[in-house]
Amino acid sequence: MPGPGAPFALLAAAVLLAVALVLSGPGRPPPTQLPPSLLQELEQRRRDLSRLAAASSVQEGAFSTPDPPGRAAAADALGCADLNGITGVGLVGSGITKLVLRASLPPGGEEVALKSVHWAGGDVSRCVQRYGHPAGCHQLATYKLLKEMALLQRLHHPGIIKLRGQCYDSSLDPEMKVTTILELGTPLEMIQLLQTSWEERFKICLDLVQLLYYLANSPLGSCALLDFQPRQFVLVDGILKVTDLDDVSTEELSCRRDDDCTLEFPTRSFFLKCTTDGKCEGINEKRNLFNAYRYFFTYLLPHTAPFALQPILKDILNATGDLRYGANETLIAFQKVLHLYKSGFYLQKKRFHLKEYIALKGFYSADTEDYKCWLSYSNLGCVLSVHNAEEAAAICSSHPQCRHFIITPRRTWTGRPLALFQSNLTDLISGGNMVAYVKRSAASKESLYPEA
Ligand SMILES: Nc1ncnc2c1ncn2[C@@H]1O[C@H](COP(=O)(O)OP(=O)(O)O)[C@@H](O)[C@H]1O
Ligand SMILES: *[C@@H]1O[C@H](CO)[C@@H](O)[C@H](O)[C@H]1NC(C)=O
Ligand SMILES: *[C@@H]1O[C@H](CO)[C@@H](O)[C@H](O)[C@H]1NC(C)=O
Ligand SMILES: *[C@@H]1O[C@H](CO)[C@@H](O)[C@H](O)[C@H]1NC(C)=O
Ligand SMILES: [Mg+2]
Repeated sequence: MPGPGAPFALLAAAVLLAVALVLSGPGRPPPTQLPPSLLQELEQRRRDLSRLAAASSVQEGAFSTPDPPGRAAAADALGCADLNGITGVGLVGSGITKLVLRASLPPGGEEVALKSVHWAGGDVSRCVQRYGHPAGCHQLATYKLLKEMALLQRLHHPGIIKLRGQCYDSSLDPEMKVTTILELGTPLEMIQLLQTSWEERFKICLDLVQLLYYLANSPLGSCALLDFQPRQFVLVDGILKVTDLDDVSTEELSCRRDDDCTLEFPTRSFFLKCTTDGKCEGINEKRNLFNAYRYFFTYLLPHTAPFALQPILKDILNATGDLRYGANETLIAFQKVLHLYKSGFYLQKKRFHLKEYIALKGFYSADTEDYKCWLSYSNLGCVLSVHNAEEAAAICSSHPQCRHFIITPRRTWTGRPLALFQSNLTDLISGGNMVAYVKRSAASKESLYPEA
């Protein structure tokens, strides 16, 4: 692990440079030294990057005159100078191409993620093994980082990691050294997600669907995440964000006939149409949706969903799994589920459990350990999201240990209150203005007011 500031000591205070400048910048190994196939790959990457830069300058040109390089950076963008004196540097993740460090920026200690080429990663080492040309291979990997940066400058959505700035140091020729400065997230842990409530898992899926809707209708056209896996996502303040964009296609696959438009996955293939202008119709959007289905929805959506929502969720899974829904329809379907969930529609049968409870105003609960329950929001005891006191009463009645509950002022992302379920009546403390609901059977067996 690098010591504080070590990898960045070399990063002199340099001006922010846009991709356009980087493209013509130093650090390109003379083409003659490169093996032809590596040269070809580099040229392809270079064209890809220029196309990306050109595509969006045309589009932005419609609104304003183009500014000099560096323009894409917002007024508050960070640069190399901001990386002087960073502290708390530590590894947060690495993939085959990139290495990601966390660091605190002076003076306030704000934390950011710093992405750079992973020189010891699989991508560069495989390339060196194959071509025996480290400089060319470093260049190739740098192009991936630059492409990601170019996309992050042009795509803006809560579901896409935010680019805070960049640092480009040309003094490290011939390895063009680039660092992107991003908002810091926490890598997505699917195993951990499977142990959270349905409401939280649904949020991850809804965040993803909103991202796919944006990507399908983005300013750069319909974009596909070619390397779509949970490890390309992080959570920032509970919001799902994609962070790995080096493998994004902003173009639909070209074709001559329908046979060229097979979308293949290990478990299934889809046969798409080739349009008259030679593009596989909707292939990017469909690729994203099926990946969302196979990596996210099948794991996160159905399990422990409210009973009445299960048929609707099953329909969504079926429609996305068969690619009958596009991003638009999928988003509408998810919004419908959210609406039904928030409205408490899923509470089909009113069983009037609440009448078995005595409501005592002016109580709160000690933060002590009590019985635990599956998918609890607290590890001290049983805390669950509820629609109202009636639903909480039904839950309490279904837990043998539960003797009382309190609807707390804490809210989940949907605005539903969290209820605290407890068994030990001594946890209840007089004071405040919350209402404690005590099971009548428990209240009669054991007086709540021993002195009375
Ligand atoms: N902004 C970030 N905050 C926290 N962790 C991140 C961030 N960006 C990426 N990571 C972590 O670093 C890993 C590698 O980054 P990624 O861009 O996916 O590189 P690669 O292209 O090599 O796969 C990711 O899998 C993720 O766990
Ligand atoms: C969707 O439902 C149909 C009809 O029941 C079934 O044949 C198909 O396999 C389902 N698809 C998925 C992806 O579940
Ligand atoms: C999806 O919705 C957007 C915005 O309303 C619209 O521009 C686009 O044409 C729609 N796409 C499809 C395939 O219906
Ligand atoms: C109830 O709480 C009291 C005080 O915190 C504790 O002494 C007692 O052991 C608890 N009883 C049970 C059954 O957990
Ligand atoms: Mg990755």
